[in-house]
Amino acid sequence: MDSRPIGVFDSGIGGLTVVKEIMEQLPNESIVYFGDTARVPYGSKSKETITKFSFQCINFLLEKKVKAIVVACNTASAASLDAIMQSYDIPIVGVVEPGAIAACQVTKSNKIGIIGTESTVSSGAYEKEINVINNDVKMVLKACPLFVPIAEEGWQDTEIAKLTARKYLEELKDKNIDALVMACTHYPLLENTIGEIMGANIKLVNPAYETAKVLTTVLHDLKIQSKSNKNSNYEFYVSDNPVKFKKVGENFLKRPIAYVQKIEIEKY
Ligand code: DGL
Repeated sequence: MDSRPIGVFDSGIGGLTVVKEIMEQLPNESIVYFGDTARVPYGSKSKETITKFSFQCINFLLEKKVKAIVVACNTASAASLDAIMQSYDIPIVGVVEPGAIAACQVTKSNKIGIIGTESTVSSGAYEKEINVINNDVKMVLKACPLFVPIAEEGWQDTEIAKLTARKYLEELKDKNIDALVMACTHYPLLENTIGEIMGANIKLVNPAYETAKVLTTVLHDLKIQSKSNKNSNYEFYVSDNPVKFKKVGENFLKRPIAYVQKIEIEKY
């Protein structure tokens, strides 16, 4: 038994979709979340910059005495997970591998769609991960950057979301894919809209959900689960604008956020 918290970080608010899944699947665990709201988006930045930011996020979380780290950001996982894994001696779970495994499990046609930020799409991380699991799988990738501000505005179920989703996704519909990975923290909020456009025959894969499942196994295998939820505690830190984070974050988390503290991430 280990009651130390899980550290979770993201480029901003989106990682709360992963936190939501961890809270549901692992209610005994405490969580320290860091959202890099001063430097979001990561999705348009270079691998070097994203890697430097990821190291700083982890250094901050380590100061909070976390027992494991979840890289909730698809962009950060895609760009920097290899470098991170080589540098830290703590269990680290990214979102790309869990999403890739789930997509390979659900596809029957061996044709998978992947939607994410520009950086995730151009990183090749999902192709690499999926082809390690099944070399016969073919992929179609598409960046859908406008889904991020739509989710942050809380417009996920509006006509604007539908029109945007149609514009991005229509071309994926005649590519014979039967699974679509929502490879960005924000996209699960648009799950209904994306599902409506893609139709019932295309299974949507949510890496946030899959990551919480993998985290459960990691904690269990290492025997570092927390046994009791009596003291489970959630702390939220950001690098800018805690008031906005609290307001928008409650839409992502579907529960109230008590308090958000601003920290100086450049120090780490
Ligand atoms: N969190 C990012 C991701 O999952 C989306 C927002 C950003 O570009 O930083 O890829």
